[in-house]
Amino acid sequence: MNILASIGSYRKQGNTARSVELIAARMQALAAQHTIPLEFETLFLSDLELHPCRGCRACFYHGEAACPLHDAVPRLRAKMEAADALLLASPVYVDDVSGLIKIWIDRLAYLCHRPALAGKAAYLLATVGGSGTRHALRTMSAGLLTWGYHLVGQTGVKMGALATAEDLPRYQPEAERVAQRLFRAVAQQQALQPSFYSLLAFRVQQLAWQHESPGSVDTTYWEAQGW
Ligand SMILES: Cc1cc2nc3c(=O)[nH]c(=O)nc-3n(C[C@H](O)[C@H](O)[C@H](O)COP(=O)(O)O)c2cc1C
Repeated sequence: MNILASIGSYRKQGNTARSVELIAARMQALAAQHTIPLEFETLFLSDLELHPCRGCRACFYHGEAACPLHDAVPRLRAKMEAADALLLASPVYVDDVSGLIKIWIDRLAYLCHRPALAGKAAYLLATVGGSGTRHALRTMSAGLLTWGYHLVGQTGVKMGALATAEDLPRYQPEAERVAQRLFRAVAQQQALQPSFYSLLAFRVQQLAWQHESPGSVDTTYWEAQGW
């Protein structure tokens, strides 16, 4: 089993990183219990060179290789392809995802036209000081659902400004729940049984992009997939 956790915070000892650590530890325990080898990679988006989308639409019209920005996005995409599941984790900044997460979502917007991650599972995590996580989780799910991911679940955790090591046991039960759900989803290949909602999203994308124009990147992609 191969899980990629992607963290959209600069704080490596911050609430989001610590929550992901708790989940990773529980997943390792589950994997050992079920004698399933687990590779859990944690990626800090802050360590990568990521430039904001310029809106040129080259990826839509000419394919992602035509993007004029040459940075870590293709490497990130390759990691997503290699993993069975993605744990996407963002702190809430002013009621939404962090800028790092939003840059990443925008840079992969071409996947809304060509949902290449179908068959993979994803879990969404947002940490927040004291208000809500609904808007941030909604931003992340809008991206991932249209990229083809099977959304296993989502969790918002209220953690204040900065949780200390002593506070962490309080978040252990939630981490256990997230780990159980993600582990089970991957072990049981739940992503191969899409929900009604994801089928609906797929159908809307199919209607929009399959017959965009003969020879276009999107039409060629849908034909090549046999969709
Ligand atoms: C720029 C910024 C904006 C924030 N906006 C909110 C907010 O709208 N509501 C809230 O309750 N907490 C807010 N917070 C607090 C963070 O959501 C919270 O501390 C989060 O868990 C930090 O995660 P991190 O330690 O991984 O960076 C904000 C923090 C920052 C730095």
